[in-house]
Amino acid sequence: MTGSFDQPDMYDRLGQALTELDEDADIAFNRLFYLSTAPSFFPVIAKMLGERELHRREGSEVRMIVEKPFGTDLESALALNRELLSVFDERQIFRIDHYLGKETVQNMLVLRFANEIFEPLWNRSYVDSVQITAAEDIGIGTRAGYYDQSGALRDLIQNHMLQLLMLLTMEPPVSFDANPVRDEKVKVLRAIRPPTPEEVPSMAVRAQYGPGKAGGEEVHGYLDEEGVPDDSTTETYAAVRLKISNWRWAGVPFYLRTGKRLARKNTEIAVRLKPVPHLAFQQQGSLGVEPNQLVLMVQPNEGVSLSLVTKIPGARMAVRPVNMEFQYGTSFLSQSPEAYERLILDTMRGEATLFARNDEVEAAWAICDPILQAWSQMPGPLPQYPAGSAGPKEADDLLEGDDRWRPL
Ligand code: BG6
Repeated sequence: MTGSFDQPDMYDRLGQALTELDEDADIAFNRLFYLSTAPSFFPVIAKMLGERELHRREGSEVRMIVEKPFGTDLESALALNRELLSVFDERQIFRIDHYLGKETVQNMLVLRFANEIFEPLWNRSYVDSVQITAAEDIGIGTRAGYYDQSGALRDLIQNHMLQLLMLLTMEPPVSFDANPVRDEKVKVLRAIRPPTPEEVPSMAVRAQYGPGKAGGEEVHGYLDEEGVPDDSTTETYAAVRLKISNWRWAGVPFYLRTGKRLARKNTEIAVRLKPVPHLAFQQQGSLGVEPNQLVLMVQPNEGVSLSLVTKIPGARMAVRPVNMEFQYGTSFLSQSPEAYERLILDTMRGEATLFARNDEVEAAWAICDPILQAWSQMPGPLPQYPAGSAGPKEADDLLEGDDRWRPL
């Protein structure tokens, strides 16, 4: 079926074709419209589907998948939600975030809520800090048109990384059904106070990659990428420090960082516990005693790693940290499904747990908006980091006390 998105007869032909399929099979098939178009067409398509009465069907389910980006700020996300919801009901709309389709991301909930061992520690009394990293070694490739309008905060933090944060910190849901899970997720976002303009410089850092190396080859800096204006102030690296103001998490810093052209691809969540109150084994030969750290490895390694301090074999009470690891690759022989396979199957089943609800997307924008606004007022050029490095040194300024970024 070809035609332009605002052409009524295209939708009539589409409707006719769908009806014929139903008649041939003598089944009222469920219908799923997948909006993977330029975002400006999302409301146009929804409106046309409504006008041509393709948004509902007696005896079957009609659903719609909406790809990212869902708005570019809070105002546009509110407007888009209003427009979609003027035609479709919330239960028909599936806002996709492919991180929620990742096996290791779903496992965060299982790890937390199907094991008794972690919950007693999962709070401000035992957790010292949390680092969420989504580092990429790739540059922007041929996506300058999109990326230069977006930047790292919009591209990854507003959606994928805040999703990781929600799953890590939400209260236990009563069931894995869509609304109980999403109710708890939204509560966490609402407990993050958006920064004031004055607070932004001390809680958010942005930078751009300069020339450097990737995979052993010399690569351009961002400003020399094809299609990027010479004076662009779009960030290819963003890091933020957030606090969740609720009973469980008050005071714990959550550091989120993401960037293109970093040293390697690595997505992980590291939960660092507090140090023991007194260490009796400070003998010579002890090697860098560190507080316990639970690392949830999302990609490319998939698994969970817990650091434990252990006695070094020998006649002295010397100690050092070791890792206890679970790896998907060795525990399960089957390959994890692709994130999109799982998510598209869920939309066919009408299962919305792994999709963002309207209020969730809006709450995520409410946190990011003040940062984007403050940045838009700050003059360029942006700090640079060499391609292939661990990011800009300015990111260290976000860290509280003795906190350090984990090596990439
Ligand atoms: C997309 C972003 O949503 O996620 C890309 O638009 C990014 O810029 C990608 O590269 C990262 O996804 P993954 O699954 O490779 O971590």
